[in-house]
Amino acid sequence: MKIEPFKLERWMTTYETNVRYDIAESGIFPMTAGELVELLPESARAEALNDLLATPLGYSEARGTEALRAELARTYRDLSPDDILVTTGAIEANFVLLNTLLEPGDHVVAVDPAYQQLQSVPRAIGCEVALWRLRPENGFRYDLDELERLVTPRTKLIVINTPHNPTGAVLTADELRRIYELAERLDARILSDEAYRWLELPGGEPIAPPLRDLGPRAISVGTFSKPFGLPGLRIGWIAATPDIVQTCWGMRDYISLSPGKLNDALALIALRHRDRIIARTHEIVSANLDEAEGWFARNADLVSWSPPRAGLLALMKFNLDTASLGLANHLAEDYSVMLAPGSAFGYEGYLRIGIGQSPPVFAEGLRQTERCLRELVASGVAVK
Ligand SMILES: Cc1ncc(COP(=O)(O)O)c(C=O)c1O
Repeated sequence: MKIEPFKLERWMTTYETNVRYDIAESGIFPMTAGELVELLPESARAEALNDLLATPLGYSEARGTEALRAELARTYRDLSPDDILVTTGAIEANFVLLNTLLEPGDHVVAVDPAYQQLQSVPRAIGCEVALWRLRPENGFRYDLDELERLVTPRTKLIVINTPHNPTGAVLTADELRRIYELAERLDARILSDEAYRWLELPGGEPIAPPLRDLGPRAISVGTFSKPFGLPGLRIGWIAATPDIVQTCWGMRDYISLSPGKLNDALALIALRHRDRIIARTHEIVSANLDEAEGWFARNADLVSWSPPRAGLLALMKFNLDTASLGLANHLAEDYSVMLAPGSAFGYEGYLRIGIGQSPPVFAEGLRQTERCLRELVASGVAVK
């Protein structure tokens, strides 16, 4: 397979380990393994730690342990462990789904902008990919009428992402139902990347139940990376019909075989205690949203945004006459701040901001960004 470079990932890996203020990250500030174990009642911690340390590090159950799949299945309506495949992050879930569901020449509609994988993999397979654009002039809202215009009788798959990376848009329960009915009419399937599930925001919009709950045409993808701050576990999953799960499992045999045993066990602890993790997340994002609101108001001459409706991400517009990649590199190299270039998503004039960083780092990252923008103006860069 020949595939185009993953622009965002290439850019992030250049800077993410050496900047002080990473406010581009798409996840919530990561938890430690110790913090995960501390979610257990005190009386159970020693035994849980012993169990983890005594785990024989052989291969794990290929689909993910029955215990983890059962716990994941319970987060959907009427699913069983056989409807779940545990994967190496949502990225592997999407990759095997796209590669098993699609053939060269298939017509696919994919959301745009997007986590690039959702467009590049179908293109690499040889599909015709129509882009369902979220437009700034529309406040980055999904336009269902436009989707209806983009599909054709040949459409095999509709790829959505809600809450959305990078705009923080959401699809409501009614909109998801409309998309499901459209897929039924077309005899198509829908892949719903729900990497930002459980990330409702104060003052934001409710997140609809997962698409998989609507019926067999719907496939939901989830992950421990974003809502739980556990990207280092590399655990995600597919929720689909057992035949799709079996086919994806067959392809996964060639890629990563099975999840890591310790990661599977830690993911199970996280899922069983997700209420407390979600409370932690709320504290972080509430503080960062307050900080951001004040910052955008103070700097309204230079920057603006539509705050995320859910999830952790938004595109920030900057009014300087400079390219987003150059600005992002300058911020990283000279101010130790990471804000992702909009050009990585095909949106010039924007930077992607994440609101999941620890609040003191987030606040300082914004202060340094302000300093950078003001110094650029003082040095003669035109304000548009
Ligand atoms: C929409 C979306 N899907 C999938 C992924 C991959 O996540 P992971 O493989 O860590 O679960 C990301 C990561 O940024 C994402 O934003």
